[in-house]
Amino acid sequence: MTMVAPTREALAIHGGTPARSTLLPYGRQTIDEDDVQAVVETLRSDWLTTGPKVAEFEEAFAAWVGARYAVSFSNGTAALHGAAFAAGIASGEEAITSPLTFAATANCILYQGGTPIFADIAADTLNIDPDGIPSLITSRTKALLPVDYAGRPADLERMLGIAAEHELTVIEDACHAIGAEYRGRRVGSISHMTVFSFHPVKHLTTGEGGMVTTNNEKFADTLRKFRNHGISSNARDRQRQAQYHYEMVLLGFNYRLTDIACTLGLRQLTKLRSNLARRREIAARYTSALQKIPGIIVPSVRDDVLPAWHLYPIRLDLSQLSVVRDEIFRALRAENIGVNVHYIPVHLHPYYRERFGYRGGEFPVAENAYQRLISLPMFHGMTDDDVQDVLDAVGKVASYFAR
Ligand SMILES: Cc1ncc(COP(=O)(O)O)c(C=O)c1O
Repeated sequence: MTMVAPTREALAIHGGTPARSTLLPYGRQTIDEDDVQAVVETLRSDWLTTGPKVAEFEEAFAAWVGARYAVSFSNGTAALHGAAFAAGIASGEEAITSPLTFAATANCILYQGGTPIFADIAADTLNIDPDGIPSLITSRTKALLPVDYAGRPADLERMLGIAAEHELTVIEDACHAIGAEYRGRRVGSISHMTVFSFHPVKHLTTGEGGMVTTNNEKFADTLRKFRNHGISSNARDRQRQAQYHYEMVLLGFNYRLTDIACTLGLRQLTKLRSNLARRREIAARYTSALQKIPGIIVPSVRDDVLPAWHLYPIRLDLSQLSVVRDEIFRALRAENIGVNVHYIPVHLHPYYRERFGYRGGEFPVAENAYQRLISLPMFHGMTDDDVQDVLDAVGKVASYFAR
């Protein structure tokens, strides 16, 4: 019997025809005509910032996630800073977070003069592993900052349990997880404070924007002051009350979100449900096709969560491939698939290495995952053909480099 060697299609990186003719980004916004019209109306109104749309967006967002309060910020990073302040993180204190995240999660602790302490992640979800947390808690620990990586909620019940035992605040970084559910409840209604981002690659955009949701009135009050220079009233209320008097009661920032942005947010919120449904549909198609490809490990989902799928990060099984991640990454980019890598672990960035002496090897699960991660394009505006292009390209590249 003659053996026929599998035919291997020439990769674009080697001069072959790319899987698609134009670059498919890893994420992008969808702006409809009704979004544009609503923003134009606000531009013609009396209020460009901190007018009626801010309160309307905050109320609608709080209702959507099922929280009592929502406080908007100029971006997710500012919202994290606000939450770190409200949690009382201060100089000499510590907060525990995941190394596999965007630097902003840990930076907000530094903004407050505190020290980020990293706990390694769980190998299946790539979320912070609660088992590693208790041994890191000291008298200086103030907060836990789990990240809902890729839109899969962290183990929130364990986080809240540990927090209750040690009187800590849980600040959940849900910048990836608008609309995700944990044990049947929407993210945003569970942790002491939950932080969201409205960057254009997210499920809902305001250009730049962020939000903190909470059920705690004191936190909400502090957050409102913090994002407005530490001032206890806002300009619109003072105008309504014919008042000039205001008091600055704490050192805050100008982290306000504009009425223009909140108008866009309000329109985008009406489409969140369908955007989430589309992302879940794409994830299901990816998972069903990619789990059959040797060398590709699809993201795992625990039974008690419903992901929001901000990202769809595959991991490579390098034992089944003849090249490393960067080679696969370059090959997919050449196929015009806009892959990305989330994330370079925070402690490996030069700033963290220099300031805290990290050398690599401290968080083996996160570092090992990083070596093998590739985020595939994931956004609600992707067409079925876009999804197919991604699957074709991954299949082509993985079979080319199969061992
Ligand atoms: C996990 C995580 N935290 C925080 C942020 C910061 O959000 P923003 O870009 O709105 O400042 C991001 C941004 O993408 C993020 O992915």
